[in-house]
Amino acid sequence: MSGEGQVQAQASVARAHWSSRWGFFLVTVGSAVGLGNIWKFPYMTGSNGGSAFVLVYLACILIIGVPLLMAETLLGRRGQASPVGTMRALVAEAGAQRFWVVIGYVGIIGSFLILAFYSVVAGWVLEYTWQAAGGFAAASKEVFAQAFADLLANPARLIFWHSLFMAMTAVVVLGGVTAGIERANKIMMPGLFAILLFLVGYGAYAADLPAAWRFLFHFDASALNRGVLFAAMGHAFFTLSLGMGAIITYGSYLDRDTSIPKICLQVAVADTVVALLAGLSIFSVVFAQGLAPEAGPGLLLQTLPLAFSQMPGGQAIGFLFFVLVVFAAWTSSISLLEPSVTLLVERFAMGRRQAVLCVTLAIWLLGVAVAFSFNDWKGFSLFGLGLFDLLDTATTKFLMPLAGLLIALFTAWVMRRADVAEEIGLRGAAFVFWYRVLAFVSPVAILIIFLHVLGVLG
Ligand code: TRP
Repeated sequence: MSGEGQVQAQASVARAHWSSRWGFFLVTVGSAVGLGNIWKFPYMTGSNGGSAFVLVYLACILIIGVPLLMAETLLGRRGQASPVGTMRALVAEAGAQRFWVVIGYVGIIGSFLILAFYSVVAGWVLEYTWQAAGGFAAASKEVFAQAFADLLANPARLIFWHSLFMAMTAVVVLGGVTAGIERANKIMMPGLFAILLFLVGYGAYAADLPAAWRFLFHFDASALNRGVLFAAMGHAFFTLSLGMGAIITYGSYLDRDTSIPKICLQVAVADTVVALLAGLSIFSVVFAQGLAPEAGPGLLLQTLPLAFSQMPGGQAIGFLFFVLVVFAAWTSSISLLEPSVTLLVERFAMGRRQAVLCVTLAIWLLGVAVAFSFNDWKGFSLFGLGLFDLLDTATTKFLMPLAGLLIALFTAWVMRRADVAEEIGLRGAAFVFWYRVLAFVSPVAILIIFLHVLGVLG
């Protein structure tokens, strides 16, 4: 459908818009579904006691994630600018304190920091895609674990793939909102779902699904502790791309007559389904092969190649699988680069090209440091964490929930209720329900988890 977006009431200069609601759906699922679902969710689950983590994660998606996803989209669409510009406009509209613009800055800084380590991990995936194309030679699990350790020990290889991935991301963002970002998602996301369906169908025959099911869904309260709560909440933010300006930015390219709540709900469902499917298939292999669920960040790359090396047709299937992971990572990294790019374009009147180059270069540099943190600079640590863990922890566990808290409070308590109601497009009881959840339930949930972590609630 064309002709939408022409009735923009905003006084802003002509801002690019997605070509349809389908376009917005795809880019937002593209942002949400990423390494967080396929790489991070399984290893976090494995390291945090399985089902206890899954349960808290699902609860956080429902009572914090979904309401916030709607709120962030709403902010972006109303502000029609970069995260910082959006917050400025909304602060002016509400006659609020300038303090709230901090939401925009935290988002920009956060997405910048995330992309630096995200790209290095995506680089691992590129390396494995390359290897998968040639087929993994059958070997013991120790050999596959060693292969992953060897990759981490090799800065040149890490930096090579990280550089390639940053270049891939930059190329799409250079193309602009519709011709670059939307088009790339329209090609990759349907491809991703087709591959996923095929792999799940295949996997249902091949591995130890019951053990995986038990591990993920047979709730065991004894595994529940502070660390699990904190990790699961952080991951709910990470997987839905919340708090870091990405959704505000994508919302700012959304036209007026699309219903925000419905699409956001669909995005959250799609994201959760992909994570659970990835978890089921990976743990099927983990248990069938007698591997350790708590292997950490290497879990995906140590287990699946082992399975692919043994199954019939493993070469083609393994290659398809890694292509899927590359697509997922790529459509997410695009959404991590775009917020900083639109900020530079807006603030310094830079061309898109120049802005993409600046941001890409800066993130690439930090990524190089991340690559070295696995080998030559392993000794460097802060609060007992190396650079990789430091960036992950600072963003996922602190910046995202903090930004989420501020976004919930700003939308529900600072903006005028009538403006919020008009923008979200919910009426009657549905509006009141969402609004109350955002005003009370989500902030309180975030605070409770923070207080638990600080030990205040024991
Ligand atoms: N959600 C993506 C994933 O699960 C990662 C991601 C993309 C992200 N954009 C983001 C995380 C913005 C936080 C903020 O892999």
